Amino acid sequence: MDVHSVGIIGCGLMGSGIAEVSARAGYRVIVREINEELLQNGLNRIRNSLGKAVARGKASQDAADQTLARIQGTLDLADLAGCDLVIEAAVENMALKKGIFAELDGLLAPHAILASNTSSLCITEMASVTQRSDKVLGIHFFNPVPVYPLIEFVRTILTSDETMATAREFGASLGKTMVTAKDTPGFIVNRLLIPYLLQAVQVYEDGLATREDIDTAIKLGLAHPMGPLTLLDFVGLDTTLFIADAMYDEYKDPRYAAPPLLRRLVLAGHLGRKSGKGFYDYT
Ligand code: 3HC
Repeated sequence: MDVHSVGIIGCGLMGSGIAEVSARAGYRVIVREINEELLQNGLNRIRNSLGKAVARGKASQDAADQTLARIQGTLDLADLAGCDLVIEAAVENMALKKGIFAELDGLLAPHAILASNTSSLCITEMASVTQRSDKVLGIHFFNPVPVYPLIEFVRTILTSDETMATAREFGASLGKTMVTAKDTPGFIVNRLLIPYLLQAVQVYEDGLATREDIDTAIKLGLAHPMGPLTLLDFVGLDTTLFIADAMYDEYKDPRYAAPPLLRRLVLAGHLGRKSGKGFYDYT
């Protein structure tokens, strides 16, 4: 099955990145947001990222203009009816995602594939509300999407070989390297990343070292681009807590239990860069 047009649900950090890389690869992209302000913020994020790519010599101005011209924004889910592939990147709420999947299932042509960019929620549960469970999978990108070369595919018990083959062709056309995981919370990357991030919060809470020294130790000692507390601020403390809770809920394993400090920072509204404060102050 050939993919010509890609629908994206949500134009936040991940949705806008997925829209950008899809349009850069030549696909016609329709991205849906729930209100005009969020849509314009998302489209501006794409414009800024393309501007950065041009400034860094990663794209020509002409290519960036053509990429933008391939992206259409909408507030109406029905506008995605003609898409061959829809990638949902809405907020991490299962009830909401199931509602979107059920509605899209009724709108899309029978051949269309439905994917979720969720980092931890059960893909099989989303597939269960559709009549096309063989055409449902997880397509998990990494932040920033234009920079990170990986896609994790999440295959459920019901996903067909044909769907996987089409998804692989799509991923290859974006220039990404692909790995495949079973439908379990955290897949590969977050299954390993989350316990590490939680442990970093725990050692900070225990007073082992300052936040700066914890970050410097990992950055320079292990050649990571960011230390764990900076990475938590980058990913979002609420997002990390959500993934950890989903993993703990499923496995009941103390490795995925969030330290008290993480939950309290989230309750206090210290969500990281996006709120201006997390482990560090960005105001
Ligand atoms: N388009 C194309 N290329 C771009 C770009 C864009 N919009 N923006 C930046 N780039 C390129 C730059 O040209 C540069 O490439 P080069 O090394 O070949 O010159 C490279 O990307 C780095 O860009 P910058 O110099 O602007 O940025 P920094 O060097 O300051 O790095 C960072 C920023 C990429 C965010 C880096 O700090 C980093 O990798 N941090 C870790 C992020 C991380 O771990 N992400 C994964 C999180 S886990 C996740 O997402 C899963 C979820 O489920 C939780």
